Amino acid sequence: MKTALFRPLHIRNLEIPNRVWVSPMCQYSAVDGVVGTWHMVQLGGFALGGSGLVMAEASGVTPEGRISIACPGLWSDEQAEAFRPIVEFAHSYNVKMGIQLAHAGRKASTLRPWDDHLIASAEEGGWQPVSSSEIAFNDSYLVPRALSIDEIHELTEAFVVAAKRVVNVGFDVVELHAAHGYLFHQFYSPLANTRTDEYGGSFENRIRFLLETAVAVRKALPDTVIFVRISATDWVEDGWDIEQSVELAKRLKAVGVDLIDVSSGGNSIYQKIELKPGYQVEFSNRIRNEAEIMTNAVGLITEARQAEAIVENGEADAVMLARAFLRNPHWTQSAAEELGEKIYWAPQNERGRTLT
Ligand SMILES: Cc1cc2nc3c(=O)[nH]c(=O)nc-3n(C[C@H](O)[C@H](O)[C@H](O)COP(=O)(O)O)c2cc1C
Repeated sequence: MKTALFRPLHIRNLEIPNRVWVSPMCQYSAVDGVVGTWHMVQLGGFALGGSGLVMAEASGVTPEGRISIACPGLWSDEQAEAFRPIVEFAHSYNVKMGIQLAHAGRKASTLRPWDDHLIASAEEGGWQPVSSSEIAFNDSYLVPRALSIDEIHELTEAFVVAAKRVVNVGFDVVELHAAHGYLFHQFYSPLANTRTDEYGGSFENRIRFLLETAVAVRKALPDTVIFVRISATDWVEDGWDIEQSVELAKRLKAVGVDLIDVSSGGNSIYQKIELKPGYQVEFSNRIRNEAEIMTNAVGLITEARQAEAIVENGEADAVMLARAFLRNPHWTQSAAEELGEKIYWAPQNERGRTLT
């Protein structure tokens, strides 16, 4: 009998060979939004590590939607095509690939984290960020311009066009990035959204932009597997919370979203996160069981038995790991070994299975 972690997961017509997935990670290594050799090596390396699904990073659906000047974009066919060889490589080892469609909103126009300052000037390729309201994330970020209703509708269309592009180059999963204080989160959290039109105020109004976008992407791509990554809580009193997340998940399920990728935080400098192993699993558990939608857990999941227990106990349908894969891209193969599973290794790497 297979462990829970290494049982395939079926979503629509997609079979994901196991439930250990690579979480999306910004690489700050694209040029004019186009990915290159770094991404091939990094994502290709993850694909050789045995995970069932590798998620490519937050990729801007418009130029202003990128987090940094070095994030990938999806506003041109050329940018999407640059992912094609990576996706084909992963597929040749039976690894599925997803990608995060993103708009950074007020947290945009940065340099890379390892540069000597945060905000990119116009000369450095920076731009005027936009958001739900004219409230900066903090003193280090630019004050955004509030989007007009027409612009909100245009962005929904930009997500649809980007989604079609990534499906066209072979991606198996489209994920809307609605977590970590980026644009969708800047709409659904009352801490960032002070609008008085139909996109602000009540719960219904705050979730409208995300919901309308999910509807539009589902309409354009009736058979594609769609995930939405949310922040289940702002970790701030009177902010966005798990009760609202459960309700949002029910709405997303009703419009055809397949899975909620459950993260948290990133929207307020006042957040008080209770960090501990698997600190976001409880949110995944509540959303999965109360909204009755598939979820994955993420966040400080680092041990094989911990990951196995999360899936086995029904707290999530899968787990995503990020930093553990930066430490060891073959984490999944090691976890399989520890749990007594024999999983696929690329033939070129087979001789590494044993040292005897
Ligand atoms: C280098 C790096 C880049 C990240 N970029 C993204 C991203 O593009 N999109 C996203 O949703 N989360 C991003 N994250 C968050 C991770 O996907 C993950 O949710 C978080 O690191 C917690 O998981 P972990 O404890 O396994 O690292 C990033 C994390 C790291 C370390």
